[in-house]
Order: sequence, then C-alpha cells, then structure tokens
Amino acid sequence: NTIKIFCPATIANLSCGFDVLGLCLETAGDEMIIRKSDVKGVRIIKIVGADLPLETEKNVAGVAALAMLENVTNEFGFEIEIYKNIKAGSGIGSSAASSAGAVFGINELLGRPFTRKELVLFAMQGEKLASGNAHADNVAPALLGGFTLVRSYDPLDIIKIKSPSELYATIIHPQIELKTSDARSVLKQNVSLKSAIVQWGNLGGFIAGLYTQDYDLIGRSLHDEIVEPLRSVLIPGFDLIKQTALENGALGSGISGSGPSIFALSKGVATAEIIAKAMSEVYNNMNLPYEIHISRVNDEGMKVI
Ligand code: HSE
Repeated sequence: NTIKIFCPATIANLSCGFDVLGLCLETAGDEMIIRKSDVKGVRIIKIVGADLPLETEKNVAGVAALAMLENVTNEFGFEIEIYKNIKAGSGIGSSAASSAGAVFGINELLGRPFTRKELVLFAMQGEKLASGNAHADNVAPALLGGFTLVRSYDPLDIIKIKSPSELYATIIHPQIELKTSDARSVLKQNVSLKSAIVQWGNLGGFIAGLYTQDYDLIGRSLHDEIVEPLRSVLIPGFDLIKQTALENGALGSGISGSGPSIFALSKGVATAEIIAKAMSEVYNNMNLPYEIHISRVNDEGMKVI
C-alpha cells in the first residue's frame, strides 16, 4: 500500500525539437513516496528539498494526480511525500518529475489501469500549472524513458525511441533560477519559412540518427535557430560554454529545456567527462557557482525502487 519511486530528470527540446523532443536521464532525479489512505482525495503531506506549496490544487503533483483520479473509480485516497533533488527552474524537468511521478505512483497502487503513454496526458496538467502551457516534452521521457517525440498534441501521439547505447549527456546548471513561463514569454509566435525548413530538416535528421545509431548525424542535427537565439541571452556564458563543449568533442550542445542548464551530447563517457571538466572551467573562471551532471540516457524511465 506504499511505494517509493525514482522520478528522473529530463532534457527537453534538444535544440531541434522545441516542445516535441526530450530524453530521460539516469543519474539525476527526485524520489517520491506514495501511500493509499482511507481518506479520499490527494494530500501532499511532505516536501523535502524545495519550498513548494503543499495545497493539492497548487502543487503540480497534486494537480496531475487529481486529473488522473477524475478518470478512474476507486475507493481510496492518496498521500504523497516528495523528496526533491532537481531544483525548480533549472531546466531539467523538475516540475515534470513531480507531475509524472504522482500519476505513475498512483497508477501502480491502483493496479495499473493506465499505460505509461496514457499517463502523459494527466501529467501534462502539472506542467500547465507550472508554466502556463501543457507541454509533454519532459513528462513523456520521464514516464517512458529513452527519447520521446510528441508527433502530435491533438490527439496526443507519442513515439518512444531507444537511445544509442553509447550516448551520454553532460549538463551544467548555473545556479540561477529561470522560470519556464518567463523563458516562454521571450519567444516569437511566428517562424519564417526559411527557419522552419532548417528546423524540420534537423528534427528529421536527429530522429534518423537515433534509429541508425549515427552519432555524427545526431550531432549535425543538434541546431536551433528559432528558440536558442532568443533564450540564450538569459543564460550567463551560454556561447562560451557551448563553444567549449564543441571544442572538447561534443556532438552538439544547446539549452536544456527552457534553461538555464546547458547540455552537451557525446559518444562515450570519457568524452562526456572531458566536456564536464572544460565546461566547469568556464564557470570557474567567471566565478559562477554551478552544478554538473553526467548521465547516460535512461531507457527505463520512471521506476519503483
Ligand atoms: N519545451 C518546453 C520549453 C520545456 O522549452 O518551454 C520546458 O521545460
């Protein structure tokens, strides 16, 4: 009647796939404990590691759980404890880990009435509360693992793609908070045909690269001329960090989700470590505090631990 789960961090967008592409990380994530209760409804009883609202309707996990419970009949209520390791506003899917974690955990306790793909729709309600927009590019990889492509939002159509086995991500998080809603407010609502052609060429190339394990093609496709130029000015040292990653063997580099974290993908852990060291030196020289992660892509996604 009680379960503990690992709620992985995620990288959304991956340069060429704004709002549609994401990957699941192995070494960064939160934990949650969810238990059945005789009292109906959903209560967030504890949050450790972050200053977030406990009221169910104001908490992303609470909202996602309520959206799910509207679609299933059951006799119980649920209590949720959240142990945050992923900082809010870091760009690696902090709200998604909680939203997706709540629906995944409750689904397990109910005997799995929903598939992982079906849970994405409920978890998106948490994202809507957090950022004003119900994007799925963090909650889908958190739930399904690997890479996910949101082929369509209406109707929701999500495709999971297994990661090439030697693909690693290095993520550096300058210790500032950037709200997704603020990072979305700087975006333009229209895209030129010329930029759209570049972007869908790269998105197609990236997906082809994943399926054929063509690391060079993955790297060539990691490019974004629509969102990155508008958002990168909000991130200290972005251009230098990206250039440093590329000079040290990264296949590509860009903004993780809505930032401020910056990611680089590479083939093999040794290169990922070299990139981590070089990126760290950039922020050391700028006297900027940061956190750094190296992770393989997590093909399993959310799991009971
Ligand atoms: N696709 C979303 C955005 C991800 O970039 O705004 C937010 O984490």
